[in-house]
Amino acid sequence: KRIAIFASGSGSNAEAIARYLADDTEVQISLILTNNPEAGVIQRARRLHIPVLVFDRKTFYESDRIVEMLLNQKIDLVVLAGFMMLIPNVLIQAFPRRIINIHPALLPRYGGKGMYGHFVHEAVVAAGEVESGITIHYVNEVYDEGEIIFQASCAISSADTPDDVARKVQALEHAHYPRVVGQLLGSQGV
Ligand code: GRF
Repeated sequence: KRIAIFASGSGSNAEAIARYLADDTEVQISLILTNNPEAGVIQRARRLHIPVLVFDRKTFYESDRIVEMLLNQKIDLVVLAGFMMLIPNVLIQAFPRRIINIHPALLPRYGGKGMYGHFVHEAVVAAGEVESGITIHYVNEVYDEGEIIFQASCAISSADTPDDVARKVQALEHAHYPRVVGQLLGSQGV
């Protein structure tokens, strides 16, 4: 089975998935793609010996090159890990129920455009929530609204800052995303 990972930032989830699947001879991460030439994920991919493709907005939205490349590479699962761009319909149509994303909150709350990175944790703390967590879901045309695959939660104390919440949530991401990716590939049958 072959995975392509899209990331826009530091890529700690991409690395966690790569390390988890390193010994699995049935699964390989064929490619890491990013829209951000400064992304930390590029250095991580180099260290992990995974090919990286840096693309720009125009290529992603005005050409089919990315989709064609993923199809040519026989990618079985597209994994978004801190990817900050909306997925074009042409990619969703080419990979039905084969694109997943992780969101650092308990959807359907704290989702949608603008609810990413630190903003999510600030909103959760500001609302006085007693828990937050992660949501792994299929990606469809509407931001953060695909079918939910897995959720895990963490307690928030009144003393927690958004940074404390971010740390707790990221720990959940690294603990669960790799396993869920592995399970999905296993469940795709031979
Ligand atoms: C994570 O918080 C993830 O939930 C969100 O973006 C962040 C990515 O972190 N989508 P990293 O780039 O994987 O370290």
